Amino acid sequence: MTSSPTYHWAVRSQAEVPPGTDWLAPAERAVFARLRLPKRRADWRVGRWAAKQALAECLRQAGVLPRLADIVVLAAQDGAPEAQIAGTRLKLGVSLSHSGGLGFAVAGTDSVPLGCDIERVEPRSPGFVHDYFTAEEAAFIQRSPPATRPFLATLLWSAKESALKVRRQGLRADTRSVEVHLAGGHGGHFGALSLRCTEPVATLHGCWWVADGFVHTIAGPGELCAPGRWQDEHDEVPFGDGSPWVAGAGRLEALPAFAGHR
Ligand SMILES: CC(C)(COP(=O)(O)OP(=O)(O)OC[C@H]1O[C@@H](n2cnc3c(N)ncnc32)[C@H](O)[C@@H]1OP(=O)(O)O)[C@@H](O)C(=O)NCCC(=O)NCCS
Repeated sequence: MTSSPTYHWAVRSQAEVPPGTDWLAPAERAVFARLRLPKRRADWRVGRWAAKQALAECLRQAGVLPRLADIVVLAAQDGAPEAQIAGTRLKLGVSLSHSGGLGFAVAGTDSVPLGCDIERVEPRSPGFVHDYFTAEEAAFIQRSPPATRPFLATLLWSAKESALKVRRQGLRADTRSVEVHLAGGHGGHFGALSLRCTEPVATLHGCWWVADGFVHTIAGPGELCAPGRWQDEHDEVPFGDGSPWVAGAGRLEALPAFAGHR
């Protein structure tokens, strides 16, 4: 019997990253040694630390209990992270992001490509929205109450980044080649995403949540976190109730495909 894939996410702060490099593999230490800027070094470390936690959870589920230093997360030529153990590439999807001293990562127990992104909620200028968002996205933000616009612009931007990471394009692609549709619950703390891509045409699915002033988004293809299932699972949670479910392991773990911890 094959079990259905599970996706594990992890959010970690720079303060949680152990000092030193014992938890890094030799190949990772070589990459780290080449990084010069303190911010880049700190971001890289917290991103790797979160990615190793998410990957370790996936591996544990498969009965493998690796040391974190044996899980190697290296950038492919296009910049996308790939995981290896003992020189063999793992057939696990993985994505990572860093923002404001936090690292955020998602990994899957199958090879489905994933994208994730974390962004601090902050205002985006009208010029930014005009240049990087589709006309429909810009109109959606414009129609929204002014107080919610920074959050909505941050959410749409983060969702685009997640989708472009799934496609391994990043910001090499036109950000308007992904149109973000919120599939419920955007006034609250979490919800589902539908990501309509051109070049080539496809629809990705995703989810988002807000915690501690940061938007988190995850995207993937197919039924990874299809809006229908997401809605069903969370219908009983009132949006905007201040519930801290995303800050702990609570609500996301209720969704069969997801597990994660802060
Ligand atoms: C991917 C990208 C959108 C992320 O931008 P960002 O908001 O500054 O950064 P985030 O913290 O959210 O994500 C960074 C992580 O995205 C991942 N990433 C980078 N390129 C990626 C790609 N093509 N596809 C998927 N993920 C990618 C990396 O793991 C990176 O973290 P790391 O460098 O510490 O390993 C941006 O880096 C980009 O467009 N890169 C492609 C173009 C480029 O200049 N590449 C240079 C490296 S070849």
